[in-house]
Amino acid sequence: MQTTFISTTAAHVAAEIAVNDLRKVYRDSTGDVVAIDGLDLQIRAGEFLCILGPSGCGKSSLLNILAGFEAPSSGTATLNGEPIDGPSRLQGVVFQDTAALFPWLTVYENVAFGLKNVKLSKAQKVAKIQSTLKLVGLQDFGEKWPHQLSGGMRQLASIARVLVTDSRVLLMDEPFAALDAMTRQKMQQKLIEIWQATNITILLITHSVDEAIYLGNRTLVFTQRPARIAVEIPVDLPHPRSVTDSEFNRLKLIALTHLGF
Ligand SMILES: Nc1ncnc2c1ncn2[C@@H]1O[C@H](COP(=O)(O)OP(=O)(O)OP(=O)(O)O)[C@@H](O)[C@H]1O
Ligand SMILES: [Mg+2]
Repeated sequence: MQTTFISTTAAHVAAEIAVNDLRKVYRDSTGDVVAIDGLDLQIRAGEFLCILGPSGCGKSSLLNILAGFEAPSSGTATLNGEPIDGPSRLQGVVFQDTAALFPWLTVYENVAFGLKNVKLSKAQKVAKIQSTLKLVGLQDFGEKWPHQLSGGMRQLASIARVLVTDSRVLLMDEPFAALDAMTRQKMQQKLIEIWQATNITILLITHSVDEAIYLGNRTLVFTQRPARIAVEIPVDLPHPRSVTDSEFNRLKLIALTHLGF
């Protein structure tokens, strides 16, 4: 059990990710599905990387490999130079599903769950959970049940569940796709604040070009399956970004062109 790196406050040390010659093949009754083939990519420690790509191109397959939920068919995926061979506290995942929290636990208990087997005193755990809830803006909602929260707040609670264990990487698969436009915008702003406060490495998959250019240091557009990188778009714009900015729209157009729009 890895327990030693859990600090008593919200402290995060980002990690880097490297993917080399990655291939993922699924075998089903109709034959082989090559989801990813010959994919190389690096994510720097503390980077916020967004991935766009057509439906079914292999984005979630990549995220599931980085999360340790799936094994590569060949090639390697490493976190700080170590092969990813299963889920760990180093990398946490937030999915689109706003029902991901345990409905029978309060928000506080949901966040506390991640510290269950961690060797900290009760007081240290309480301090840690409270500072994490504060970091995501849910300090006044710890005693609420998940069903009493808005969809956006439930996503923030899911992020808190990852951050409380001092994860180095936050993997997000279309985390805001189920939210209405206004809530989604607020969540994007909040996520930037969280990223700036923690400097955690973030990989976010989205179908929204605006969301990718608004959030990331860099956006990758994937090709049709098997996933390869069609274009890499560095985004040097300072936060908060404006969707009406001319550079924002220039970058957006590059992404849209490679997505075939
Ligand atoms: N467990 C599985 N068994 C068989 N095929 C799978 C499995 N998981 C994914 N696939 C197939 O692999 C391909 C890539 O799927 P993946 O879920 O990675 O795509 P995606 O880019 O995340 O798509 P979306 O944008 O729709 O979420 C698809 O053709 C999918 O049907
Ligand atoms: Mg997917």
